[in-house]
Amino acid sequence: MPFDNLLLERDGAVAILTVNRPKVLNALNAATLDELRRAVLELKHDDGVRVVIVTGAGEKSFIAGADINELAVQTPTSGREHALRGQHVLDLIENLGKPVIAAINGYALGGGCELAMACTLRIAADAARIGQPEINLGILPGYAGTQRLARLVGKGRALELVLTGAPIGAAEAERIGLVNRVVPAAELMTEARKLAAALVTNAPIAMRYIINAINKGLEMPFAEACVFEATLFGLVASTDDMREGTRAFLEKRKAVFKGG
Ligand code: COA
Repeated sequence: MPFDNLLLERDGAVAILTVNRPKVLNALNAATLDELRRAVLELKHDDGVRVVIVTGAGEKSFIAGADINELAVQTPTSGREHALRGQHVLDLIENLGKPVIAAINGYALGGGCELAMACTLRIAADAARIGQPEINLGILPGYAGTQRLARLVGKGRALELVLTGAPIGAAEAERIGLVNRVVPAAELMTEARKLAAALVTNAPIAMRYIINAINKGLEMPFAEACVFEATLFGLVASTDDMREGTRAFLEKRKAVFKGG
């Protein structure tokens, strides 16, 4: 089904999903969020897609947050539903089972920062500005930003970013671990595609279990998480890709993983 607010293109096994509302700096209204939910589910179930890149249309913004026109008229009940809907979509992204790379091409504010944090990896353009400015609207992050931010950069830095609402630049975001790396703006998509190309030939089931082990394991007591990891290790040992990977090493050739 076509999208009104998203662009979805395929480059081999890499899918590039672009939030396309540049006139409002790609703010996420309910319709866009619903399209994201549909697109992400489509990509999850498409075995031809092994890596996803998410970015924003235009040169100025990744996503400048939830659409403030819609936020302004929330009631207590609709506000709760709004937050749960956003959290659900970001949870789908975080647990897509394949790497999702956020290519942060400008403002990643509020829901934009939250969406980027739900991605598996983040590359930022050097001019990007990232933060959780909700406090300036008299609200708080509602797409699990308080939780993912604290887990990514630690409690002290998360509290500072969310309480002050002040965005930080890309270099500072890299320093505190909010993004994996910073590149010149003009090279952002090339670098994102290069990273995707490096991942796209990896064994898909092993990548899915790695994401699962880290995402779910971090929410468990350490000892239970280790048992969970061992179980996934056992499961991956049943795959053709595991046999191919180990055999290729011993035969001194490059492995060809088929995803089985
Ligand atoms: N929701 C709805 N519309 C938004 C938006 C958002 N989150 N962010 C930007 N826009 C709209 C602006 O209202 C403006 O629309 P207009 O041309 O009809 O006036 C357009 O996008 C361009 O934004 P503008 O503010 O003129 O650009 P700027 O370069 O001066 O400032 C920002 C850029 C990102 C600093 C500023 O737009 C901003 O602070 N946005 C809100 C960020 C935010 O609080 N996000 C969290 C929401 S929970």
